[in-house]
Amino acid sequence: MKDKPVILVVDDQLQNIELLETYLIPQGYEIVKATKGEESLGKLSCNQIDLILLDVMMPDMDGFEVTRRVRQDNTHRLLPIILVTSLRETEDRVKGIEAGCDDFISKPVDKMELLARVRSLLKVKAYNDLMSNYRKELESEVTRRTEELKQAFERIKAASLDTIYRLSMAAEYKDEDTGAHIKRMSRYSAAIARRMGLDKSTIETILYASPMHDLGKIGIPDQILVKPAKLDPVEWEIMKLHTVIGAKILKGSDAEFIRLGETIAQCHHEKWDGSGYPNNLKGIEIPIAGRITAIADVFDALTSKRPYKKPFSVEESLAIIREGRRSHFDPDVVDAFFAIQDEILTIKNQYDDDNQQVFEIPELKALLQQYNREELNKKPKIKAIDSKTTKDKLVKLNGVEVKPIIKK
Ligand SMILES: [Fe+2]
Repeated sequence: MKDKPVILVVDDQLQNIELLETYLIPQGYEIVKATKGEESLGKLSCNQIDLILLDVMMPDMDGFEVTRRVRQDNTHRLLPIILVTSLRETEDRVKGIEAGCDDFISKPVDKMELLARVRSLLKVKAYNDLMSNYRKELESEVTRRTEELKQAFERIKAASLDTIYRLSMAAEYKDEDTGAHIKRMSRYSAAIARRMGLDKSTIETILYASPMHDLGKIGIPDQILVKPAKLDPVEWEIMKLHTVIGAKILKGSDAEFIRLGETIAQCHHEKWDGSGYPNNLKGIEIPIAGRITAIADVFDALTSKRPYKKPFSVEESLAIIREGRRSHFDPDVVDAFFAIQDEILTIKNQYDDDNQQVFEIPELKALLQQYNREELNKKPKIKAIDSKTTKDKLVKLNGVEVKPIIKK
């Protein structure tokens, strides 16, 4: 904060500067002197000048040119400039105004007029400084608040995504030893979506929505979900309904990634040739997110250990995916998958089951396996449903609609 207003006096005649000093210093102003145009610009940049008293007729660079140069610098856009001139022609005054000066004082300088004009323009300068500082404070406050809101939004987003991951892990808990499947599968899906040229927001939504693809498994009985053998036809019909259950759980949300989660839960087992489930959608009837997650899910299932199988090698799994081009999978998605094969394998290694935190409780698993075996042995298994209905008609099984399996 300055004690005194600082005035830059520019005149090639030193005695003129000294005369102005005798008028101004006793009034409490600090004076910075310059006898050349170029010199005055240098002093302007290294002093906190509040006003310029500028002679017009100077050798090398006249007052009009100095004024123009001062105005070129945006920080001096509102700095008051008074031209001190013996020119009285209107044309010269217009030239001064066009160059950017604020006022004129005629030579010989009248002390009272000088002090009145200086005081008046310094008041304007003080007001402009006040407004400028206020604007800067407001801008800085808006920036600070915006940053706070952004951070709060990021925290809420992170918390809701974390919740989704954990809920998805809960759905996987019974048939997965680690939470790695959903991590790999969602990252495979996002990488394929990126390769396919989907926009950034859709890629991010697929990344966050795809972990929910098997949420509906939560509604599938344990003896089917963790059966260490091939499912019989009825069990398979029940298992297929995890798509419908997942979609129902996620239905009706306002959140974009939950809505996409519903689509993915519903469609990730549809097949390009129409032989998938639950709705036998075909080709591009299947939403793109469903076609992408289908390949990501199958590749991860093939390369992972399951209760009923050992993992396939990467080569075997890639061959199966290639074989499924145009039958199981959208050929464009298969092409995108193979185009980023190295990235897919990097994700696979990064989220390898062996590197993940295992969330199984061994003693619980052992007890449950024993319990399930005993329960399965006690209950007669349904081999098929007697039905006089046609093959395509749905029947109710424990309140759930399934396609009948005709006894042979
Ligand atoms: Fe599934």
